[in-house]
Amino acid sequence: MTAPRRRLLVATGSANKLRELQRLFGDLPIDLVTLHDLGITDEAPEEGTTFEANALQKARWYADASGEWTLADDSGLEVAALNGAPGVYTRRYAGPHASDVQNYEKLLADMSGALNRDARFVCTMALVDRATGSERTFRGECAGRLTTAPRGTGGFGYDPIFEVAGRTMAERTPAEKDALSHRGRAAALVAAALRSELRP
Ligand code: IMP
Repeated sequence: MTAPRRRLLVATGSANKLRELQRLFGDLPIDLVTLHDLGITDEAPEEGTTFEANALQKARWYADASGEWTLADDSGLEVAALNGAPGVYTRRYAGPHASDVQNYEKLLADMSGALNRDARFVCTMALVDRATGSERTFRGECAGRLTTAPRGTGGFGYDPIFEVAGRTMAERTPAEKDALSHRGRAAALVAAALRSELRP
């Protein structure tokens, strides 16, 4: 018997994240729809102090705005020498409208001379189904180190300065990044939960 397909709203405006999720959920009986597909242009508030709180706040907000089963994520970088900063402020590290390059250049400047360059990416995904009241969160982490200069042209965000086993995320193929990344790991947990839930 074939499982009935379900629609899932992926509440992100990021084409990069959407592409990653399409690859990761490719074998599931799910049709991903985006905020753009549904004509939702308003942005959910993001006022939490943890990745979990932000992901849940976004998933609930977009589930209410759309009436759809909704997946939202929140992610960021935690740097040991900065006591876990920038954390939930990763996107705004160099200011409210900072570009990826401005953000990572500021981080490299703040880390100049630092010997302990350990860092980790964290991604929390929240899955909210208003029809059943179900709310779940899934957390993926990726441990690595900050480089002292950017390397590579792939990926996005802080990928050119985040190194795992000698290569930055921007020096890896998308499939290699998925296998290692915080989002790949969180999405694999979501995919496993969905696979058992959607079993015919
Ligand atoms: P948000 O989850 O979209 O709010 O992203 C938070 C911040 O973390 C942004 O500055 C992103 O560029 C950065 N970020 C999230 N995921 C990644 C990644 O996989 N690689 C590099 N930077 C990332």
